[in-house]
Amino acid sequence: MSENYVLKTENLGISFGGLKAAQDVNLKIKKNEIYGLIGPNGAGKTTVFNMLTGVYQPTYGTFYLNGEELKGLKQEAINQKGIARTFQNIRLFNNMSVIRNVMVGLHNNPAFKCNPFVSMFRLPSHFETEKNMRNKAKELLKIFGLLEERNILACNLPYGKQRKLEIARALATGPKLLLLDEPAAGMNPQETAELMETIKFVRDNFDMTILLIEHDMSLVSGICDRLTVLNFGQVLAEGNVDEVLNNPEVVRAYLGDD
Ligand SMILES: Nc1ncnc2c1ncn2[C@@H]1O[C@H](COP(=O)(O)OP(=O)(O)OP(=O)(O)O)[C@@H](O)[C@H]1O
Ligand SMILES: [Mg+2]
Repeated sequence: MSENYVLKTENLGISFGGLKAAQDVNLKIKKNEIYGLIGPNGAGKTTVFNMLTGVYQPTYGTFYLNGEELKGLKQEAINQKGIARTFQNIRLFNNMSVIRNVMVGLHNNPAFKCNPFVSMFRLPSHFETEKNMRNKAKELLKIFGLLEERNILACNLPYGKQRKLEIARALATGPKLLLLDEPAAGMNPQETAELMETIKFVRDNFDMTILLIEHDMSLVSGICDRLTVLNFGQVLAEGNVDEVLNNPEVVRAYLGDD
């Protein structure tokens, strides 16, 4: 039964011409889990995220969010159903302020959906919604230690903070499942340690379920409850972190036969 899982994928896969970039991917992620998706470069991890967020339409299989099939929906619709993500290469609105970036996320949050008629004619409830959004955005920025920088342009934030802002913007859309694509990439060990605390905080305080792609094994073993390893588009191993990371096939996939 798919209903017991926040995310369930069934034989999910995609081909690009002759290349099967992902094949028979079966994930079962429970509520409030921090679940890792790992594997060598080119294994198909980001491709899985792209299928789960409507960037790519799967060639095979399907997926469910809390039992509801979402395959076939477009990106914005999937986001409104409750899947939000960050990107491997940060994608912020660079020429908008930090707070505006978060408010863009809030505009896609069903809880803040404003009536276009109300916005167009600037009716009093438009200003009310705008004020509520600004307050909500500030709350989120505070959690991510970005409140002081709220009025500067996103492109002027240091790299580690841009990554945090991207997570804040994703959360602003009010998701049930948060997908993080290499959140610690380019961070120093201190920033990575802080990020781990932030991810746990988000899980605990936003009642969130998190699927993350990561190459940093200290982060993976530090915060993931369970893992799936992809290799050449296929699931190589899955299970508890220690079990999976000590699996000789997984070690071989990462390090090669030598
Ligand atoms: N739109 C596309 N068209 C053709 N091939 C693609 C496309 N998107 C991904 N691929 C291929 O699919 C394979 C998996 O790529 P993907 O980006 O999912 O890997 P990854 O596991 O995220 O790797 P990394 O750890 O380097 O980010 C690669 O061979 C990639 O070149
Ligand atoms: Mg990738």
